Amino acid sequence: MFDVLTPLPADPILGLSAAYKKDTNPNKIDLGVGVYKDEQGRTPIMNTVQKAQRILLETEDSKTYIPQQGVQGFIDGMLQLILGQGHKALIENRIAAVQAPGGCGALRILAELIKRCDGDTTVWVSDPTWANHIPLIGNAGLNIKTYPYFDKTSASIKFDEMADCLKQVKKGDVVLLHGCCHNPTGADLNKDQWNTVLEIAQQTGFIPFVDIAYQGFGDSLEEDVYGVRLLANSLPEVIIAASCSKNFGLYRERTGLAVMITETPAIASITQTQIQSIARGIYSMPPSYGGALVDIILNTPDLKTEWMQEVTDMRERMKNLRKLLVDKLAEKGASKDFSFVNQQKGMFSFLCISPEQVEKLVNEHSVYLVSSSRVNIAGISLSNVDNLAEALVKVL
Ligand SMILES: Cc1ncc(COP(=O)(O)O)c(C=O)c1O
Repeated sequence: MFDVLTPLPADPILGLSAAYKKDTNPNKIDLGVGVYKDEQGRTPIMNTVQKAQRILLETEDSKTYIPQQGVQGFIDGMLQLILGQGHKALIENRIAAVQAPGGCGALRILAELIKRCDGDTTVWVSDPTWANHIPLIGNAGLNIKTYPYFDKTSASIKFDEMADCLKQVKKGDVVLLHGCCHNPTGADLNKDQWNTVLEIAQQTGFIPFVDIAYQGFGDSLEEDVYGVRLLANSLPEVIIAASCSKNFGLYRERTGLAVMITETPAIASITQTQIQSIARGIYSMPPSYGGALVDIILNTPDLKTEWMQEVTDMRERMKNLRKLLVDKLAEKGASKDFSFVNQQKGMFSFLCISPEQVEKLVNEHSVYLVSSSRVNIAGISLSNVDNLAEALVKVL
């Protein structure tokens, strides 16, 4: 049976991690996979997660199945975090939601749900978007098209072109938007641009699908959800996929949330049964552990306050690293102005250099990044920034 299969190339990002591990250069730098790192290059367990683990160890008294929708305290806490307390759709009971195995799991089951509603739906994604959006949505059998988003030459969002394209999207089609900290570019819509996206959605009738995987890594936990709250407040239907991998550091615990804001409470109830049946047909129910930890953190006031500070610390560290890199590049006489890196948000930046220059960085300088020139800002440190800036200056 299996002899008919042909080998596939390694995932470009995960393959890069493997190549980095093999490299014996002591000065190698890993800017590939999107994982937060501290100054020592470690991805530590957050303090609040450690505290929640201890609480869970003491209080969890069974390993029986959890309800199909997941840990209810997790769902309620996350909805409040994303939509804010007393959000209109929450009060009106127009929300269906399930815990999912990571943001990826949420994206996938939501894509399956869109297909159940209408198999001919096209999902519009930004050009570029996070590479995994394409298989997660496309493998559900949906059509995918792209809307213009980022101009590498000016290192900025091509908003006019984006808006013109979205105006052509037909009613009922779905537009995938990054809630904040756009992956891979780090270039986010400003408030005016979100307002325009809302107006276009109101005119055309497209359904926004917001992927929010980095809440708190951009400007703040509140400011980063401006767009998703705006859409959720003003439109009858919005789809949201959220991830706790980054802002709770729960990568391997596969902790995410799938949210469907619907037109009426009755439709929300029906949608809840449908999304649960989709999950049942794939993995039955989500893993409990990560959701249980987030439930404890978000629903214990002291822990929540401490967690918010931990998120702030990670965000501020990445902001400082951006500035450090930009300053070092200028200091070392880079022939290109990289100041745009300071305007970008979250964990990623596009350096806007060519694939050939990236290849040189990897092969000649042991600086590992994907060919699009996306870098994980958290991979920079006080100890490697000089080497990184020098290597960049050399390949320019
Ligand atoms: C834009 C975006 N969405 C969703 C995810 C999903 O993450 P996870 O499945 O690890 O929760 C990621 C992870 O890198 C991401 O960058």
